Amino acid sequence: MGFENKVVLITGAGSGIGEATAKLFAKEGADVVVVDINEDRAHNTGDQCKEYGKRVCVIPADISKPEDVEKVMKKTIDRFGKLDVLVNNAAILAAVKILDGSILKSFDNLVNTNLRSVVHFTTLAAPHLVETKGCIINTSSVGSVSVRSGPLFSSYCAIKAAVDSFTKSSALELGEVGVRVNAVNPGPVRTNFLNDSGVPIQWDHFAAATVLNRCCQPNEVANLIVYLASEKAVGITGACYLIDNGQSIK
Ligand SMILES: NC(=O)c1ccc[n+]([C@@H]2O[C@H](COP(=O)([O-])OP(=O)(O)OC[C@H]3O[C@@H](n4cnc5c(N)ncnc54)[C@H](OP(=O)(O)O)[C@@H]3O)[C@@H](O)[C@H]2O)c1
Repeated sequence: MGFENKVVLITGAGSGIGEATAKLFAKEGADVVVVDINEDRAHNTGDQCKEYGKRVCVIPADISKPEDVEKVMKKTIDRFGKLDVLVNNAAILAAVKILDGSILKSFDNLVNTNLRSVVHFTTLAAPHLVETKGCIINTSSVGSVSVRSGPLFSSYCAIKAAVDSFTKSSALELGEVGVRVNAVNPGPVRTNFLNDSGVPIQWDHFAAATVLNRCCQPNEVANLIVYLASEKAVGITGACYLIDNGQSIK
C-alpha cells in the first residue's frame, strides 16, 4: 500500500496486534520502530521485520513511564530523522470489581499505560507528523462502546472510551495541519493479552459474546491499521473502526 521510505512507530509491537502490524508495515515497505516492554519479544519482532529488508529500530521501553516515552521519540528521530505513522497500540488489561476495594490502584496503572502514553506520544510526535503530513492510529477496543464483556473490566472500558474521545479531539485539532487521527476498536483477538494480564477467562467465552461466534486473529486488525495509515484512507479522520465480529450489536 505504498509505505516505501515511510517511518512507522508501533508500541506493544512485541506481541499480538502490534507484532502483526509491525510485520505488515515492514512487508509493505516501511522502516519500523518496534517498541515493547518485553525486550526479547521486541527483538523477535524486529528480527522478523528485518527479513523484509527494511530498516528496523528496536526500543525496549515501558510506555507508562514518561521518561521512556521521551526516550523512544528521541531515538526514533535520531535514527530516522522523521516520523510518518504513530501506532499507539500497547495496553494492559486488569480484571477488578468495584466491591473488591482495589479498583483505584489498577485504574491508575491502566490510565498510565493505556491513556497517558497515548496523549504523551501524540504530543511528542505531532510536530514531526505535521512535517510529514502523517497520521496516528490508536488501538482502542469494542469495550469503549459496549461493556458486555463483563463488570470486571469497568476501568479498562472507561479508559478505552477516553481513547476514542481523544482520537476524535486530536483529529479535529491536527486535521487543520494535515495530520489524520483514527482508532481501531477490536472485539476479541487471540493474543497473549489474557494470559499476560492473568485474567482467568478463556477466549471462547469472549467469542460466544459475538454475532459471528469467533475471535479475530491479530493480522485482521493489522490489515485495518495499515489500511487506515495508507493513502487509500486519505479521507478518513476522527473515526473509530469496530472490528468486533458483531459483538457491539449482539
Ligand atoms: N486481544 C484482544 O482481544 C483485544 C481486544 C480489544 C482491544 N485490544 C487492544 O489491542 C492492543 C494490543 O493488545 P494485544 O491483544 O495485541 O495484546 P498483547 O498480545 O498482550 O500485546 C501487547 C504488548 O504490549 C506490551 N506492553 C504492555 N505494557 C507495556 C508498556 N507499559 N510499555 C510497553 N509495552 C507494553 C506487552 O508486553 P507484556 O506482555 O510483557 O506486558 C505486549 O507485548 C491493546 O491496546 C489492547 O487494549 C485487544
